Amino acid sequence: MSDRANQLISDILRRIHEAIVENDVTYEEYQTAKQWFIDVGEAGEWPLFGDVYIEHVVEEHAFANRAGSQGTILGPFHVPDAPLLDAPFELPHRPDEAGDRTHVSGRVTDADGKPLANANLDIWQADAEGRYSGFMPGPPEGNLRGQVRTDADGRYEFITVIPGPYTIPLDGPTGKMTAAAGWSPWRPAHIHLIVGAEGYEPLVTQLFIDTSDYLDNDVASAVKPELIVHPGPAGDGTLAITYDFALAPVRTPALA
Ligand code: DHB
Ligand code: FE
Repeated sequence: MSDRANQLISDILRRIHEAIVENDVTYEEYQTAKQWFIDVGEAGEWPLFGDVYIEHVVEEHAFANRAGSQGTILGPFHVPDAPLLDAPFELPHRPDEAGDRTHVSGRVTDADGKPLANANLDIWQADAEGRYSGFMPGPPEGNLRGQVRTDADGRYEFITVIPGPYTIPLDGPTGKMTAAAGWSPWRPAHIHLIVGAEGYEPLVTQLFIDTSDYLDNDVASAVKPELIVHPGPAGDGTLAITYDFALAPVRTPALA
């Protein structure tokens, strides 16, 4: 038993009880909700549900006063240990990978702008049809997942394709709940990154493509204006995105 658990669980249950009373929830609705909880578990959708409807508030609140670049939600589709890429730092993809070929580059610095050499960028994204490798039919395992390191000046670059927007699965319980509420199930097109360096807080973030639909209506509420990028012509028929990341110092561990 901990005071923290008692406080938090009591508070959450009290708010559920209040919502029931304020909305005159019927026994039938309670039974429907209970079956829905069961369905979410059986479909393995609790990670999806949590990351779509809850994670953004945890992220915003936990990092409200953090120095450096904005982060956003991790989401359910990160896979650890993606391959570390060598020049020309092209994310693994199929020979006929759809989507506009794009060079992404920039710098990783500390919060004061000092370049960080050998910082790690762990990158993952959906393909042009909005499908994540390892979780959805279509892309082979490891597709559009890789890691790159910054050079001595803190510079990084990688080559990828512009992802497509993504919809949460429509036929599962999370999608059905979303439809029942009349909400859009879409996320705007985005590239996920975790940017890390020794002595700094890992930055979990996403870059949102400015031309994507759903930027102002993300089902996961994870878009921040600072994270919208503007792919432009690179001159050689590809696109270019530039983005700089600033990392906050690692939090001093609390004294026990
Ligand atoms: C979900 C999907 C994402 O691509 C993402 O970034 C966050 C959440 C989801 O389906 O839960
Ligand atoms: Fe995503």
